[in-house]
Amino acid sequence: ADEVFDYRFLPARPEGPGFALVLLHGTGGDEHSLVPIGEAVAPGAALLSPRGQVLEQGQPRFFRRFAEGVLDADDLRRRAGELAAFVTRAAVRHGLGETPRIALGYSNGANIAAATLLLHPAAFAGAVLLRPMQLPLGQDEAGRLAGQPLLILAGRRDAIVPAGHPEALRDFLVRAGAEVELRWLPGGHGLAEEELAIVADWLRALS
Ligand code: MLT
Repeated sequence: ADEVFDYRFLPARPEGPGFALVLLHGTGGDEHSLVPIGEAVAPGAALLSPRGQVLEQGQPRFFRRFAEGVLDADDLRRRAGELAAFVTRAAVRHGLGETPRIALGYSNGANIAAATLLLHPAAFAGAVLLRPMQLPLGQDEAGRLAGQPLLILAGRRDAIVPAGHPEALRDFLVRAGAEVELRWLPGGHGLAEEELAIVADWLRALS
């Protein structure tokens, strides 16, 4: 076990791609929630899937918030540091060596993925951010990203992510040096079957 995170690790299979996926669930999920999605979008990839250690009325998440959509910036910074340290530890423990780590985060997990990348650019070689929000971080505290490829999937009818946030997050990440593709889906905050193919294609182009 890890000293900070409960997690699941599934080793790579021979047919897998040349990267590992770090799965970051949404509020109320756990280390099992995104494993089927990871398997679907990158068959045979090593999967590292931690459970967020903050509980909100019994629901795991990766950092605190004051209310829905009102994120606790100090806690976000602290937990992003813990997540960056965890992925480095786990990569050593599971022999991932130099295998690039791609974050795949949904909702609260997408927000911690983006914050971790901005504050600790070496944590991930790229990321898929499903329904992220703009982060309460200053551009001045963002580290320098080395052109990491990022895919943001936003929902046209998302009732949780306020209007304008996906574009604002994209611009923030681009200014930090990332290569960001923002794509819009017709639906809301929930994951849609159709996006799995989009994510799978985008990941395939990476390897
Ligand atoms: C967050 O708190 O990160 C966002 O409100 C997304 C969520 O978890 O619902």
